Amino acid sequence: MKNIRLLSLLISPLLFAQGIPQEILDTGERASQELIQQLGSRLKQEVATNGLVKAAEFCNRNAMTLTEEVNLHQLEGTSLKRISLKVRNAANAPQEDEHRVLESMQEMLKEGKLGEYLIEEDGRFYKYYKPLVIKKEFCLACHGDLSKNPELSQFINEHYPQDRATGYKTGDLRGAVLVKIKK
Ligand code: HEC
Repeated sequence: MKNIRLLSLLISPLLFAQGIPQEILDTGERASQELIQQLGSRLKQEVATNGLVKAAEFCNRNAMTLTEEVNLHQLEGTSLKRISLKVRNAANAPQEDEHRVLESMQEMLKEGKLGEYLIEEDGRFYKYYKPLVIKKEFCLACHGDLSKNPELSQFINEHYPQDRATGYKTGDLRGAVLVKIKK
């Protein structure tokens, strides 16, 4: 097994200061927030102006491209993506180590110990994980119980026949933004 160093802000704030350069943490935080804000604000705007089904269509067409655009803003050696244990789009499936980190996150969340971020040292890279915990009903419109909305349900089934990203409740871990930063 690869040597994974997992540090949660809540569990060991001091280890952080000792082990990981502050600029790495700043880069991870800045990049993940940029993606969360870009996707979040566009999505809210779409839902408000065009409704859920159109907004889902918007996600289907643009989520990957928007992620790529945010990637282009980053310094060389930094890249980011969205991952989840239950993906809608297979392109967002985690790698093996990332899968393990997401599972740890879920455990920590259950125990009330999930911090603001987790960081993993992986060879020549740091991996900065920003948890996406569902705080608002808003996310549940498309990731909760879709049976209430047959039109949306049909759209999702057509475009994501393998969809696993439903059945969530508020307080659940939906996934993470992963920022990979070259050492
Ligand atoms: C209007 C419907 C809609 C809403 C509201 C919505 N999503 Fe999604 N979400 C989608 C669709 C569609 C995809 C697949 C996009 C793609 O193909 O990349 C997706 C993908 C994701 C992914 C990528 C992982 C995966 O399963 O492929 C994450 C993470 C995610 N959503 C989190 C959230 C969070 C957090 C919220 C609330 C802030 C939210 N979503 C609200 C429709 C929605």
